[in-house]
Amino acid sequence: MKIAILSNGPGNYSTKRLKEEAKLRGHEVTVVKYKECYASIEQNNPTVSYQGVDLSKFDAIIPRIASYMTKYGTAIVRQLEMQGVYTTSSSIAISRSRDKLRSLQLLAKSGIGIPKTVVSRNTTDIDDLLNHLGGMPVIIKLARGTHGNGVVLAETKKAAKSVLQAFYLTNDDGTNILLQEFIEESAGTDIRAFVVGSRVIASMKRQSLDDDFRSNLHKGGEGTIVKLTDEEKKIAVKSAKAMGLNIAGVDLMRSARGPLILEVNASPGFGIEKVTGRNVAGAIIEYVEQNAKRRNKKDKVGA
Ligand SMILES: Nc1ncnc2c1ncn2[C@@H]1O[C@H](COP(=O)(O)OP(=O)(O)O)[C@@H](O)[C@H]1O
Ligand SMILES: [Mg+2]
Repeated sequence: MKIAILSNGPGNYSTKRLKEEAKLRGHEVTVVKYKECYASIEQNNPTVSYQGVDLSKFDAIIPRIASYMTKYGTAIVRQLEMQGVYTTSSSIAISRSRDKLRSLQLLAKSGIGIPKTVVSRNTTDIDDLLNHLGGMPVIIKLARGTHGNGVVLAETKKAAKSVLQAFYLTNDDGTNILLQEFIEESAGTDIRAFVVGSRVIASMKRQSLDDDFRSNLHKGGEGTIVKLTDEEKKIAVKSAKAMGLNIAGVDLMRSARGPLILEVNASPGFGIEKVTGRNVAGAIIEYVEQNAKRRNKKDKVGA
């Protein structure tokens, strides 16, 4: 097959691994820097070109869209979808995963456990909101943050109010702000389940190394291999499905009331391969082989 990996970083570990596995399995593979693609939007003739080559000749694309380039990246993926090119992740599923509020709404609607969350633009009834969450401390997060940036732990009501006011001030209507119950039992740790199709193919526990409550590897967190319960596996797969994603990094916390989903990532990192020894890239290429022959499935999430 002719496979294109849409990635702006040909040197990224994930990109290199996907390329390597695709080649190993006998495919012709090209890394396409989507930031250098251009889309020509014409009546009945939408095309996407990269270095003069029309991308519709590919049998499958594997988008690895960076969060800072979601709009452009998903526009390129969308245009290829409209041309009937098979993609492992649909543009709409990538977009929805980049918004934590939208994601949590979809997860909750599917009956998946999430930390109690409220969203508001109103600074006057903060006390009410905080009480609704069950008291202090609370987590405050930007709906479009990544890598642990934009996630704050507020220990007191006073702190929560100042953080919220500062966030509201600097965020006209750009991004929503979520207030979330602090899952204390799990502070400083979370679990990443890597879902491909209907299976969890690798899982790791992440632990912050200092006393940070955030366990992101980008924040210096450390990953160790962890075995998931059947219930956790089921919820991880269900979460990916709720988002319309075939490939997903599902982040969950083990809480006193069971697994709670924090977020679902559409371009999860492959560092998990080094932690678990699992061949994540190979599993993705295998998934492409099994699914690219069919057309893109219609997105049924509906939001
Ligand atoms: N409600 C919460 N309770 C306790 N810890 C949390 C909570 N929400 C997030 N965290 C911690 O902060 C980290 C980053 O939060 P997350 O929502 O995943 O944002 P990001 O997209 O920036 O990774 C999580 O991996 C987790 O360790
Ligand atoms: Mg996260």
